[in-house]
Amino acid sequence: MKSLKDRWSLVTGASRGVGSQVSEGLAQLGSNLVLHSRELAHTQALAAKLAALGVRVVTVSGELSDEAQVDAMLDAALRQAGRVDILYNNAAIMTPWRENPWDTPAEDFRKSFEVNVISLARICHRLVPLMLARKWGRVINLTSGIMNQPNLTAYAISKAAVDKFVRDFVPLLAGSGVQMNLLDPGWLRTDLGGPKAPNDPTSVLPGALVPALLDNGESGRFFRAQDYAGLTLPQALEKALLK
Ligand SMILES: NC(=O)c1ccc[n+]([C@@H]2O[C@H](COP(=O)([O-])OP(=O)(O)OC[C@H]3O[C@@H](n4cnc5c(N)ncnc54)[C@H](OP(=O)(O)O)[C@@H]3O)[C@@H](O)[C@H]2O)c1
Repeated sequence: MKSLKDRWSLVTGASRGVGSQVSEGLAQLGSNLVLHSRELAHTQALAAKLAALGVRVVTVSGELSDEAQVDAMLDAALRQAGRVDILYNNAAIMTPWRENPWDTPAEDFRKSFEVNVISLARICHRLVPLMLARKWGRVINLTSGIMNQPNLTAYAISKAAVDKFVRDFVPLLAGSGVQMNLLDPGWLRTDLGGPKAPNDPTSVLPGALVPALLDNGESGRFFRAQDYAGLTLPQALEKALLK
């Protein structure tokens, strides 16, 4: 099986939901972890659990709507880990359900763009040039398959902006050794997805790991974790290569 031994992965929003599943999956493949959340205390238990698997784990914190905190979080990550080889831009906020979509306040758009788009771009701007200099990197930006839900338009268009961000960088990354792709985890029973979601958070594995493990030079692809639910990781990788 593919190994991520000696790689360092940064997972934003690692404390719960998709982020904690992905972090555990990466640690099981041997990757060292930088776990991010808003408070160091939120990732303490997960850090201890993953360290017991024999990988190195450090924790960083930062409110992603605050540019200075994003920069301080990245400083702390690079200081402790030395480098980031694999980046999961996973943290995001859901905006409130607006019964009358025509009344969606500007604040919903502002907040969702600050956390879901601008911080994601800022983290990429800092870390991807370092990956390019080392000629190896994997960036997985969490998106959503959400559509036709105008009551959640502020969240939905922030994810559309993430899709556009990733796709526009495809020519720049070609042949570089750095791959940047999109991952839709599916509708899951997390704090963000809510209790009515059809899928358990564990169903993101093994699919969520596929874009970190593929070595085909491809960027800009939209991966759906649920396409791989119930498969083993080798089966998932084989399916991803067949397309
Ligand atoms: N769940 C779904 O159904 C679903 C569907 C499609 C896409 N997605 C995407 O999958 C990703 C993960 O979602 P999830 O369901 O796992 O979310 P979640 O359970 O709500 O977890 C959110 C994570 O992000 C962190 N976070 C939240 N707001 C933050 C902020 N302002 N600044 C910094 N960190 C913040 C939280 O850290 P704290 O511990 O500090 O709060 C937590 O670790 C998101 O990008 C989401 O859009 C989810």
